[in-house]
Amino acid sequence: MDYLKIEGRYPLSGEVNIAGAKNAALPLLALTLLSNQKVKLTNLPNVADIKTFIKLLENLGALTHTKNHEADIDTTTVNSVCANYDIVRKMRASILVLGPLLARFGKCEVSLPGGCAIGQRPIDLHLKALEQMGAHIDIKQGYVVATASEGLKGAVIVFDKITVTGSENIIMAAALARGESTLLNVAKEPEVVQLCNILNQCGVKIEGIGTNKLIIQGSNQKLLSIKNIHIIPDRIEAGTYLCAGAITNSTITVKNIIPEHIRALSEKLISMGFGIIEGEDFITLESAKTILPCDIQTTEYPGFPTDMQAQFMALCTQANGASVIDEHLFENRFMHVSELERMGADIKLRGHSATVKAPCNLNGADVMATDLRASSALVLAALSANGTTKIHRIYHLDRGYEDLEGKLSKLGAKIERLKE
Ligand code: EPZ
Repeated sequence: MDYLKIEGRYPLSGEVNIAGAKNAALPLLALTLLSNQKVKLTNLPNVADIKTFIKLLENLGALTHTKNHEADIDTTTVNSVCANYDIVRKMRASILVLGPLLARFGKCEVSLPGGCAIGQRPIDLHLKALEQMGAHIDIKQGYVVATASEGLKGAVIVFDKITVTGSENIIMAAALARGESTLLNVAKEPEVVQLCNILNQCGVKIEGIGTNKLIIQGSNQKLLSIKNIHIIPDRIEAGTYLCAGAITNSTITVKNIIPEHIRALSEKLISMGFGIIEGEDFITLESAKTILPCDIQTTEYPGFPTDMQAQFMALCTQANGASVIDEHLFENRFMHVSELERMGADIKLRGHSATVKAPCNLNGADVMATDLRASSALVLAALSANGTTKIHRIYHLDRGYEDLEGKLSKLGAKIERLKE
């Protein structure tokens, strides 16, 4: 297994190119199951989760060809409707084939994804909505066994909680359903908006894109003419690099982004004393005279994203005063706290609230990655720590960050990937 070795306290400078968004690419790869022709996806991030999803499509019988940041996916050859456990357990987002497979074939078997480090991660809202659309759902030996012999029918769906992949699954199901679906309390994340825009571009009538209410006219199982998809930039990768600049109190630029998608992060950094210069497709972070503490409440888009909570917690250890971070989306998304404490952080947990005492000098240590975003928080802490940090189990990082050590090295960090 690989690990990262980082020498801390080097200032960063220069610019970093942001890759396509993993969490936009995953539902769009699932969407290829609804296409009547080969689909070309560009600006794909070169990360493990994307490779896993493409493998899943191949297991279903799709023909795929990938090179660099592109993939050609032809699902007209799909001959299986079973997404089995060994691939779903590796990546929860595999559940995104549930809606498309059921809508297209009228039946499918998808392994229950199970929980993960950050929480139980149920899919009850996905299943409840599909039942309202006429599906019959059984859970057998750890699999969701779904049938809709007459195809899915449009329905009025009210999501009890805002769920990103739940919204994406049902949007794709509704696109092929018979008649009109109204979705209420639907997620508005940019990744959900791109899925809706692509559907709209290939003829699916969707009203309310970007709002929490969507009205979708289904195609009655007629496959869609989807040709080319260019993935939007990864707002969480962009936010992570801004935090790398902030925690080393440097001036850096993140390029190939959509600034509006990280408005909540930019505003938070400004409140902490950093300068933010925005262009059409870049943001320059300017160092702060004094890094100020902040209060964070994670919530759904456009609020502060839970996927940036760990990274900001690392940053808050360098603020001039205590910060309070409340995690409202997941019940166990503080796994990074104990590892940050091994580096000298002083963080008090009380339920879903963390108080980060600061400023505190972090010291290099051996630490262990536990989940994707927690691992990136450890990298950020290591950039600021005195001495050497070794971060183990970085396969978590490789799921969602393309060439992290290469990009950070170009910015001036002393980081290398080594073998255990
Ligand atoms: C998506 O996960 C993202 N993953 C996550 O990013 C992100 O943290 C999360 O949305 C929240 O923004 C992808 O897009 C692939 P949810 P998702 O359904 O859709 C509850 C990363 O780091 N819920 O929005 O699985 C759930 O327990 C990953 O890239 C139900 O109760 O999350 C949670 O409390 C981590 N029942 C809340 O909703 C359901 O049926 C939000 O979960 C579904 C969800």
